[in-house]
Amino acid sequence: MQLSVVQGNLAQIAADCIVVNLFEGVSEPGGATGAIDQALSGAIRTLIAMGDCTGKAGTTTLLYSNGKLPSARVLIVGLGKAEKFDLKAARKAAATVYKALSKLKGVKRYATIVHGAGIAGLDGQQAAQALAEGSLLAAYQAPNYKREQPESGPDECVVVEFDAAKVAAITTGVQNGQIIAEAVCHARDYVSEPPNVLYPVVFAQRARQMAEQVGLKFSVLGETEMRTLGMGILLAVSLGSEREAQLVILEHTPPGTEDQPPLVLVGKGITFDTGGISLKPWDGMWLMKDDMGGAAAVIGALEAIARLKVPRRVIGVAACVENMPDGKSFRPGDILTGITGKTCEILSTDAEGRLVLADALGYVARYQPAAVVDLATLTGAIGVALGKEAAGLFANNDRLQNALLRSAERTAERLWPMPMYDEYLEVIKGEMAEVKNSGGRDNGVATSAKFIEHFTEGYPWAHLDIASMVWTSSEKDPSAPKGATGYGVRLLVDLAQTFG
Ligand code: BES
Ligand code: MN
Ligand code: ZN
Repeated sequence: MQLSVVQGNLAQIAADCIVVNLFEGVSEPGGATGAIDQALSGAIRTLIAMGDCTGKAGTTTLLYSNGKLPSARVLIVGLGKAEKFDLKAARKAAATVYKALSKLKGVKRYATIVHGAGIAGLDGQQAAQALAEGSLLAAYQAPNYKREQPESGPDECVVVEFDAAKVAAITTGVQNGQIIAEAVCHARDYVSEPPNVLYPVVFAQRARQMAEQVGLKFSVLGETEMRTLGMGILLAVSLGSEREAQLVILEHTPPGTEDQPPLVLVGKGITFDTGGISLKPWDGMWLMKDDMGGAAAVIGALEAIARLKVPRRVIGVAACVENMPDGKSFRPGDILTGITGKTCEILSTDAEGRLVLADALGYVARYQPAAVVDLATLTGAIGVALGKEAAGLFANNDRLQNALLRSAERTAERLWPMPMYDEYLEVIKGEMAEVKNSGGRDNGVATSAKFIEHFTEGYPWAHLDIASMVWTSSEKDPSAPKGATGYGVRLLVDLAQTFG
């Protein structure tokens, strides 16, 4: 969908529909809503007085202008209580509008005001960014391989601002929101693609194409290079697969930051997780195509970071591997040595995410990072602990942890801090190697984080277990349709923008 910003009066705009808003409890609408109400001879006040338009969040009311306005349709979106209205609500209101308009066959081009920059007092640029994000995330359609493609909704949105002094900030907000939402949608695409289409080499090619378009430095290590570097733990996971593993590296180095210690983002990119020799049951296994959701978030975030020209050095690393059972597979009982020389013992080939991260985290030590954040669909147990409402946050550094919590708050991509007690490490001490890759049934989440921490190399580090966040089996929100969520992109972009 195309978004643009114009200075003008919404009442004079010709579009298939114009969009105004209403807070709960308002009986005499002002601003743009008031102006439209006047043009419609009080029709909106009548709707309110009759109790047919309440301003409740998530509601919309459609009316027709019958020649009183250049646009035939007017949609009123409810914003809820003004004192509760925030950026998350602004995103949701924009998404609600998009969904409502998609149901009307004749609406291709609509015009709207920015929600929340008036009485709710949101910053104009941020409210405009939320508007762009909400609309574009609601417009998302997953790739599909049906011969007949689904009908699409509106393809043009004009954001109208009356106050000429605010147009520049709103334009910036809309542009930033568009860049971020497009990156989220690309992350959703990567996750949605079936595992026979998107496997490590293809994932790397897509990242390369994107990098060329946005001006990121791209490099990739194949299995030969990784073997030379001694990445025996990551490579073991790939042994059973016909598809070559790839370590994708994306570098964003704005002019003058060549010597700045980078923020390094690392993503688990298991393009399909069968469990390997520790085979998973068939039921629901298809969804293990989403086991590269961490890598998708990292690659998506780097795309947005480059396009937004974020003024700090950021490096993204995606560890892309397929986990398959085969005569060549690694097995429970194997002892592996990785890039750092640290050793581990395999109890389950299905605890493969921590293995690819072990070598990826060892690899990134060469950048002397300011901080490293890894994102991984690591454990089913995190969903048992937190459900689908937050990702688990594990960190060895308070400053990084706090920065992440603030980014989570601002973007509404929730994180919940989890403990990193030393006792959890005792559970995964190995018999023949330093650590083993599973602590058994108990302590499932925390031991996985302690395992990964063992392979970090002294830098500030945080691990986000996003296993229950990357996919939703039903629509969570009008901006998060059923399927891949793109979780993590907005969070990481905010972190890159704010981390010192
Ligand atoms: N990719 C899975 C985790 C997962 C489970 C993600 C469900 C999304 C939904 C991971 O590789 C895995 O298999 N973890 C095991 C670890 C266990 C063998 C120690 C798990 O959580 O059961
Ligand atoms: Mn697994
Ligand atoms: Zn996995």
